[in-house]
Amino acid sequence: MSNSWDEYADGWDNNQDVVLYAQNAFKSLTQYTELNGLRVLDFGCGTGLLTEKIAKQAAEVIAIDTSAKMIDVLNAKSLTNVKTLCCELSEHEIKNNPLLTEGFDLIIASSVCAFVPNYQQLLTLFKRLLNQSGTFVQWDWQRNEQDDFGFTPEMITQGYESANLLVESVTNAFSLTSNNSTMQVLMGIAKNN
Ligand SMILES: C[S@@+](CC[C@H](N)C(=O)[O-])C[C@H]1O[C@@H](n2cnc3c(N)ncnc32)[C@H](O)[C@@H]1O
Repeated sequence: MSNSWDEYADGWDNNQDVVLYAQNAFKSLTQYTELNGLRVLDFGCGTGLLTEKIAKQAAEVIAIDTSAKMIDVLNAKSLTNVKTLCCELSEHEIKNNPLLTEGFDLIIASSVCAFVPNYQQLLTLFKRLLNQSGTFVQWDWQRNEQDDFGFTPEMITQGYESANLLVESVTNAFSLTSNNSTMQVLMGIAKNN
């Protein structure tokens, strides 16, 4: 089944804005935590710009995305400790997919949560997938007054609390300038309890 993100897959890794976003997300992640030995879920992995950086240090990365073409580009990178899944994350998938039955030490979601129709439901699924002391980290555009895309810090905090995740921090991790406009990126971090 085709997906609206499929058409972006071929040129994704040559888009300097998304390359820079992944570089900044990785930098902020490694400033926060060590990755050595961790089992990581990269939700909305795209072509794996962040996956490939994390995989150099983590024990294993499961990379999931609903776009088959994005996953094709990632698979072509043949990363030895990365396994990919092209499906919608759901209770059914968590119960039945062997790659998801074992828990995760870290779940990351870079520039994807704002595209998912039900953020709260997604956080509840992440809570199910996290190991006891596991961590969830997301990066998303900060919502501004002009449009209704992205998140405010309050939306993220409330989402974590409603999913019974412990709010660690919600910060302005970095900003990106493109076409003369600068946008802030929020980094939300929550722990399983
Ligand atoms: C802006 S891109 C970010 C890709 C990647 N995280 C990166 O940093 O380059 C958003 C990605 O989220 C994926 N996506 C959108 N909705 C999704 C969903 N419900 N489940 C999993 N992936 C989804 C898209 O297919 C796309 O690859």
